[in-house]
Amino acid sequence: MNEKQARFFQLVSMYPSPHNGQPMVLKKINETTYDLYFQTARGLTATPISYLFSFTTIGVFVEYIEACGRALGHVVTVNVKLPTVEAMAQSDSDLLCGRMTIAWSATAADERLVAAIEFRQTSRKKYSRGLLPQEKTQLATLMSEGQRLIFLPNREAMQTIWLNQRAVFDDMFDNEVRSELAHWLRTSHKEKIAKKDGLSYDCMELSGTMLRLVLQHYKVLHWPIIAPLLKRYYMRTMKDSSTVGYLLSTFETEHQSFEIGKTITRMWLELSRHHKYLHPFGTIVSNNQAHNDFVQLVGLEDESRDKDYVVFIFRAGTSEVPVRSERLGIMHMVE
Ligand SMILES: Cc1cc2nc3c(=O)[nH]c(=O)nc-3n(C[C@H](O)[C@H](O)[C@H](O)COP(=O)(O)O)c2cc1C
Repeated sequence: MNEKQARFFQLVSMYPSPHNGQPMVLKKINETTYDLYFQTARGLTATPISYLFSFTTIGVFVEYIEACGRALGHVVTVNVKLPTVEAMAQSDSDLLCGRMTIAWSATAADERLVAAIEFRQTSRKKYSRGLLPQEKTQLATLMSEGQRLIFLPNREAMQTIWLNQRAVFDDMFDNEVRSELAHWLRTSHKEKIAKKDGLSYDCMELSGTMLRLVLQHYKVLHWPIIAPLLKRYYMRTMKDSSTVGYLLSTFETEHQSFEIGKTITRMWLELSRHHKYLHPFGTIVSNNQAHNDFVQLVGLEDESRDKDYVVFIFRAGTSEVPVRSERLGIMHMVE
């Protein structure tokens, strides 16, 4: 791999993925052609909706790799061929998702886009400011067909933050979700550096010792005195001045889920251009009780997968620079 290719794949390797599972792999056919695979062992599986959401992860990556190409002056084209949701649920191997061709140095680089991609991170810190009206308007222009972006007034935003906290705590009582989290959580610096994937305690703004304790003795989350203290500790970075928004979309097919991912990357990179961070609240979407309560909160009477389904909820705005999450590196991503 030459220097130019290494720079490109290094930038690509910083793509965001749920639980930092980093499931995307590129298998080299020749210097300009790579097949794109999803490693099912690195995808999420704990909730019934997890498999369909894996296509969102693929969409996030495809939009991201195209943006990395534009940023560095390479023309990236991805011919997407998605597997089926059944294959996603049943297969334990790598699933082919399409073929990427890349015309190296075929166009001008875009330094501002490089800066935005390098700025992008998930921030779980306290946000000191939300989004400006023009930033909200700009984000709304990035939707694909069948998608709508809505921002919440302050009161509903605060209630969404509470719902997220409740869902995060409740999820610890769901055996599947808890064991998936236990698999991906990195509770010490040593573990974070050794494994180079997963959700690290410092990126989560939480104490590693506390996380380990809660994983092993999750019932403390229902104990008097202890539970309110843990809630207050968790909420110390959550009660803030961020803007809370959500994305409604059709959500029946693999392709619709893929398009949601593409939109998420477009929004995330646009925010990054303005030095704004984002924090997805995936737990509200996947936790049934929290999802239903959110639908009630925003007055969405006829939520349905064939029209307006709540697929992505997030807070966004200005915060201090968060801790960088680890990556497996380009030797893992490019085979
Ligand atoms: C589709 C998608 C859903 C995500 N959902 C959550 C979430 O529910 N909660 C959360 O804290 N982070 C969530 N994240 C953020 C990832 O954990 C994060 O991208 C990953 O750990 C890498 O860190 P980075 O974004 O700072 O590079 C999500 C990311 C993606 C792409």
